Amino acid sequence: MAFILSPSLLSADFANLQAAIETLDRTSADWLHIDVMDGLFVPNITLGQPIVKAIRKHAKKPLDVHLMIQDPDRYILSFKEAGADILTVHEEACRHLNRTLCQIRDAGMKAGVAINPHTPACVLENVIEFADLVLVMSVNPGFGGQAFIENSYRKIRKIREMKEKYNPHLILEVDGGVSLENAPALLSSGANALVAGNAIFSAPDIPARIEAFKQIGI
Ligand code: DX5
Ligand code: ZN
Repeated sequence: MAFILSPSLLSADFANLQAAIETLDRTSADWLHIDVMDGLFVPNITLGQPIVKAIRKHAKKPLDVHLMIQDPDRYILSFKEAGADILTVHEEACRHLNRTLCQIRDAGMKAGVAINPHTPACVLENVIEFADLVLVMSVNPGFGGQAFIENSYRKIRKIREMKEKYNPHLILEVDGGVSLENAPALLSSGANALVAGNAIFSAPDIPARIEAFKQIGI
């Protein structure tokens, strides 16, 4: 089945993002995944709106912005202005998740909600209709190149059931430790969007690796 592939720029060379973006733009990758970290919600700091804006200037693909920041409501409009197309916040970082998701949609972006590995799928039960995307973290957020947490499949299957019941158009994205090896099982469990950082940027030939991922969906 066809799926969305969202290469994570976290594994690209931050001193040469333009080259990475141009390489990805020439491939059949669907989105560009951008990991924003605040050093508070996660133990790492990456980049913010000025860099998203700079990426937007060069990128032809939609920007899939994953906010790993506390109280993201403070920055919804500024990420829209910077050029985000999909804005994903963490359930664990929001006091009023319904309001946050509605504000993202009202700002004209797709609204995503991410859940950490320890967070059960049931927290999404009352907000799933208000989201365009659910992102299942299959590693603890903060770093690229970590090992996939195997019990994520169970959660993906549960969210797939919820999606069928309440929001059939929901995009179900998986982020963390995604590889060519586990992608087929992730897709058959119900994922229809995959983020991959290390698995793409560690490849000697990045376009060929993207093509190999996309072949899985055919
Ligand atoms: C981790 C980030 C991921 C990361 C995934 O906190 O949310 O998007 O880039 O990297 P890999 O695919 O290397 O696990
Ligand atoms: Zn991410």
